[in-house]
Amino acid sequence: MKKFLTMMALALGGTSLMSLSALHAAELKPDMEAAKGKVAMCIGCHGIPDYRTAFPEVYHVPKIGGQNAKYIENALKEYAKGDRKFQTMHGIAATLTDQDVVDIAAYYAAQTASTPVNPQK
Ligand code: HEC
Repeated sequence: MKKFLTMMALALGGTSLMSLSALHAAELKPDMEAAKGKVAMCIGCHGIPDYRTAFPEVYHVPKIGGQNAKYIENALKEYAKGDRKFQTMHGIAATLTDQDVVDIAAYYAAQTASTPVNPQK
């Protein structure tokens, strides 16, 4: 812990904010248990057979289980920033913390073809 604090102090006193955020990003470890509670809000749309939702209109919902974790992380960040435009996904992604994104991405990346379609917590 002491060593960690020293490193933080060095990073803070250091030249760029970039190195601080890089350090921060490297610290985030996926927590699969925490993820189970967090994906509750995704399952309604991303966990149904045929991946279609009837609200607010019928549209295709992409399958995210088994997708690469980095891909999911990037997609969520893009929706949050508005670089990717989709209103409901923007609304959801904007509420997620960096830790939520890492947890959720790891959760979905770990799914395989044999994972139940709509896993219960
Ligand atoms: C209201 C329904 C709904 C909910 C709830 C929802 N999504 Fe989505 N999601 C969609 C739709 C529809 C798309 C496709 C949007 C588009 O065309 O860009 C999408 C796209 C995505 C993508 C991009 C997939 C790809 O192949 O590019 C990811 C990743 C994603 N959602 C993750 C999540 C996560 C994680 C949650 C929960 C925190 C969540 N979604 C909740 C409907 C939903």
